[in-house]
Amino acid sequence: MPSSMPRLLEIGPLPPGLTKAARERFAVHPLWQEADPAAFLASHHGAFAGAVTMARHACTAELFAAISGGVVASFGVGTEKLDLEAAARFGVQVAITPDVLNDCVADTALGLILATTRQLVNADRFVREGRWKAGAFPLATQATGKRLGIVGLGKIGREIARRAAGFRMEIRYFGRRRQADVPYGFVPDLVDLARWADILVLSCSGGPATRHLASAPVLEALGRDGFLVNIARGSVVDEMALIEALSEGRLAGAGLDVYANEPNVPTELIESDKVVLLPHIAASTHETRRAMEALVIANLDAFFTSGAVLTPPEPSA
Ligand code: 8YV
Repeated sequence: MPSSMPRLLEIGPLPPGLTKAARERFAVHPLWQEADPAAFLASHHGAFAGAVTMARHACTAELFAAISGGVVASFGVGTEKLDLEAAARFGVQVAITPDVLNDCVADTALGLILATTRQLVNADRFVREGRWKAGAFPLATQATGKRLGIVGLGKIGREIARRAAGFRMEIRYFGRRRQADVPYGFVPDLVDLARWADILVLSCSGGPATRHLASAPVLEALGRDGFLVNIARGSVVDEMALIEALSEGRLAGAGLDVYANEPNVPTELIESDKVVLLPHIAASTHETRRAMEALVIANLDAFFTSGAVLTPPEPSA
């Protein structure tokens, strides 16, 4: 390997395409294979120019201290596992992969809206189990024309809204602030939005600021005919409150791509026919994953050639 290659730490296992691309350009050291990663970092300050990671792996203050002045390029858009305050403190530039996954994540949200309201997964089971011959499948809920509440009208939330408009849905949103450039109504209180909505979609960032936003009172306000869809982070939902609302008939259904403790999904959800459960696949298409991988590499290349990453995290919506 040419000695001029910048030395990078690999924080955890990465998608194979990204591992390969990173190793072609950089001298990559898998930190996660060290017996004691913390001790390794403590004894290698200044030895690495940066790190390559993905959204699900934690990047701690110890890491940022060890690569002070360097770069961290993360595969994914979520930043809740990145200690951004420590990154700033140690002068480390952070890059994520925004935009390239907006379409696929928004597609998945619409898929979950349709799957839950129209009972598509239950209907599929009904046919496979040979139950059709004994009678018709029960009526479901129409999706077109419903009231859609969006929690977090960022880039992904806006793509969900554009798609939902095609289903003639009425759209309102909740977030940190009113946005001047959208035609949708801003509702500053999430309980009010949930009370108004037929379907509530979570598309905000994870982390402490949004923890359990979808609380028991919010689910109560969404009501017995309401549907919850989560393509954000599991931490945004009070999962116990969700389980109780579903099992007590206080919520019609939920479509979930993310969970509080992935890949562990509560048995109550697995056993419920009111939920559609996906294994965190909203961005998992060949096209989007390739684009995400390319953007991680482009960010690292940009840092090492021009001194600045291309796509740092932006403030949440
Ligand atoms: C990724 C994600 O598939 O971008 C994110 O933050 O959650 C997904 O797009 C995955 O988490 C990559 O780590």
